[in-house]
Amino acid sequence: MAADYPTMKTAEIRSAYLNFFESKGCKLYPSSSLVPDDPSLLLANAGMNQFKEFYQGKKVMKEIGACSCQKCVRTNDIDIIGADGRHASFFEMLGNFAFGGVTKEQACTWAYELITEVFKLPKDRLYFTVFTEDDETESVWRSLGVPADHITRLGEDDNFWAAGPTGPCGPCSEIYFDLGEEVGCGCPDCAPGCDCDRFLEFWNLVFTQYDGQEDGTLAPLPTKNIDTGMGLERMAAIMQGVQSNYETDVMRDLISVGERLSGKSYKENAESDLSLRIIADHSRSVTFMIADGILPSNEGRGYVLRRLLRRAVMHAHKLGIEGAFLSNYVDAIVRLMGHVYPEVVDNRELVERVILSEEERFGVTLRQGQAYLADALEKLEGTVLDGATAFTLHDTYGFPVEITEEICADANITVDKEGFEACMDQQRERARAATKDDAEAAWSTYGG
Ligand code: SER
Repeated sequence: MAADYPTMKTAEIRSAYLNFFESKGCKLYPSSSLVPDDPSLLLANAGMNQFKEFYQGKKVMKEIGACSCQKCVRTNDIDIIGADGRHASFFEMLGNFAFGGVTKEQACTWAYELITEVFKLPKDRLYFTVFTEDDETESVWRSLGVPADHITRLGEDDNFWAAGPTGPCGPCSEIYFDLGEEVGCGCPDCAPGCDCDRFLEFWNLVFTQYDGQEDGTLAPLPTKNIDTGMGLERMAAIMQGVQSNYETDVMRDLISVGERLSGKSYKENAESDLSLRIIADHSRSVTFMIADGILPSNEGRGYVLRRLLRRAVMHAHKLGIEGAFLSNYVDAIVRLMGHVYPEVVDNRELVERVILSEEERFGVTLRQGQAYLADALEKLEGTVLDGATAFTLHDTYGFPVEITEEICADANITVDKEGFEACMDQQRERARAATKDDAEAAWSTYGG
């Protein structure tokens, strides 16, 4: 599909967006670390995270608002990453934020101006959703010239946004781009919110007016705020006239790294394409997480890192890539993104060292683990793999249980997660008892 509007590279979109909001008086903030300064969040998942205290009225910004390009990691959709063209574990979010100084009408007007006058997207391909009860936002879009049949009302599941279970949140309005009838399901009532690929959501405008409390209630915030987030990779797909984030300039370069290492060409085989996409995506999360000081471990964000890293290694094996390989992706990421995120340049050596050590550790046991699992699946009667086998894979061969689940899912087998957790609990119990015995032994030796 050739685009009927100007083409822009990822770097040009990033600059155009940030320049636009700086010209409106918003202060440019660098991306915050992926490790949030907020115990309620495991990893930075949105541009608004670093502004939480401004939303809560605990801090005051003297400028009218802020803008940023934020690195984000989200793993809630990990199963579909690579399988579709729009989900990713790592992505960049372009955002603008205001804490009482910008009205809803102003925020929507800026958004419309940017996409129609700077990015020059054709108006007839733009669609909008608004929260069911939000008449005001619908009338703002209408006043900007959006026809009524390009606006859909959606409920809380789609049009109410929160970073996590607590904290600033509110109703939202999303902007979609119509990729064309030929991409969609063909249903006469196909519209934004439909499960098919026709309408691509690329910008979310949240009207952050509540602070979610521990007990689930919504306390009104002192001011009516704005938090908008545009997925840079999705916008790049639109501006480059391609159907998938993986075909945009930056991501396609990372796919080429995998092509070079594996000798496989992209778009020749569905299975190897999937692995090439997964490694392209995961290599970015892994690089940025380590550059921000996260180390592989068996819990918390360290576990998320280990899981992504080992999943990338497993897909490399599927592609026939032998030995340590991820440093090739780090080189490309530094080249493609180092000018925006100096931390990947400054911490490159650490990133490479941590990755290499993890690749070596997992590389040693991966094949044996795969053989062990293949044997267990062959002997399996029924469709559920027992928890003890999943535990052995985790404990002896270093398979995160989610990877075991993924391999099993290919054979239509599920994993007994409860049984697995019970084995994990027993192991923790043994470890606690061993620590206690050691402490007692030390006491009897030294303390008398
Ligand atoms: N916080 C909202 C989101 O992540 C908009 O920035 O979608």
